[in-house]
Amino acid sequence: YALTPHNTFGLKARARYFFEFTETEDLQTFVSSNESWNNLPLFVLGGGSNVLFRDDFEGLVIHPNIPGIFKVKEDRQYVWFEAGAGEVWDDFVKYCVDFGAGGVENLSQIPGSVGAAPVQNIGAYGQEVSHVIERVKGFDLQQKMPVEFPASACEFAYRDSLFKKELKNRVVITSVIFKLDKFPEFNLAYGQVEEKVNTLGEVSLQNIRKAVIEIRASKLPDVNELGNAGSFFKNPVVTVEFAEKIRERFPEVPVYPVNEKEAKLAAGWLIEKAGWKGRREGNVGVHEKQALVLVNYGNATGKEVFNFSEKIRQAVWEKFGVQLEREVNCI
Ligand code: EPU
Repeated sequence: YALTPHNTFGLKARARYFFEFTETEDLQTFVSSNESWNNLPLFVLGGGSNVLFRDDFEGLVIHPNIPGIFKVKEDRQYVWFEAGAGEVWDDFVKYCVDFGAGGVENLSQIPGSVGAAPVQNIGAYGQEVSHVIERVKGFDLQQKMPVEFPASACEFAYRDSLFKKELKNRVVITSVIFKLDKFPEFNLAYGQVEEKVNTLGEVSLQNIRKAVIEIRASKLPDVNELGNAGSFFKNPVVTVEFAEKIRERFPEVPVYPVNEKEAKLAAGWLIEKAGWKGRREGNVGVHEKQALVLVNYGNATGKEVFNFSEKIRQAVWEKFGVQLEREVNCI
């Protein structure tokens, strides 16, 4: 089964088996009627915007494609929406913004599906999806039954959750319940968001969405033109002392506070300073406008992309003594 249309890197990988479903019952039927999948390697694939297939996948790909967005309840301040795992993330954001519900507008135009959003706790421009998630519904492939997790049980952290750790390829997320604010506090502090919104007019959900879309378009390559999976690496979290040491050498280094002891460095900045921004080797390259994004210039293979990313890690390690961790799921 060709995975090319199912990964935004545009890699020509294939899966041995592929199972797509639009209702949880179908997944239930599949796992209880068909025991042979039990011994296969599994991979749960959402929108394919955060995955690198290093090779063909000799196992079973499960692709949740449950549609639907509906209102669960509403009070004077909040509104709760449930969205199916197969909904396109940005369609959900647009739905919320059009409704006048705040909390995801800064996450406009992140590629991928609703079901994948909690897995890596997507975040951008000062918002993280964990802040608006109330519950995650899924299906446990081991127990063969539906399961639910309140947000407090999901172990959300920067680009991380329980679904990426213990529950990886065991729980398939089927829908997510979000709690959104009808009188939101706008979040303009990150980067150029405020400046951009001011050029558009009043501060509103619609204008924040527009501003974020414009900022993203100016930096991030369009997956329809140039295969990529967004940020390839995570922004590394280091000790405050370590960040200070780097600042002594490079006073302009961007450092974001995490807590009293830790700070986050900008991986894109480290890669640029290590001399890799815009660099290209064969079919793979570092994007010219955002060094955190690796691009497929055409016929790259997963192995090529992976090997290229290793060289970048090596270069950043040699220059700064920082270990970059991949954000993209390498299969
Ligand atoms: N920078 C450079 N050179 C570059 C890229 C960035 O010097 O080539 C510097 C920028 O000047 C800025 C800092 O690094 O001072 C941060 O850059 P930016 O605002 O572009 O964000 P980022 O830290 O590179 C993160 C997320 C993005 C998200 C943006 C905006 C991660 C791994 N990435 O990138 O998320 O859109 O912030 O909030 O946390 C993704 O996860 O796929 C993704 C695109």
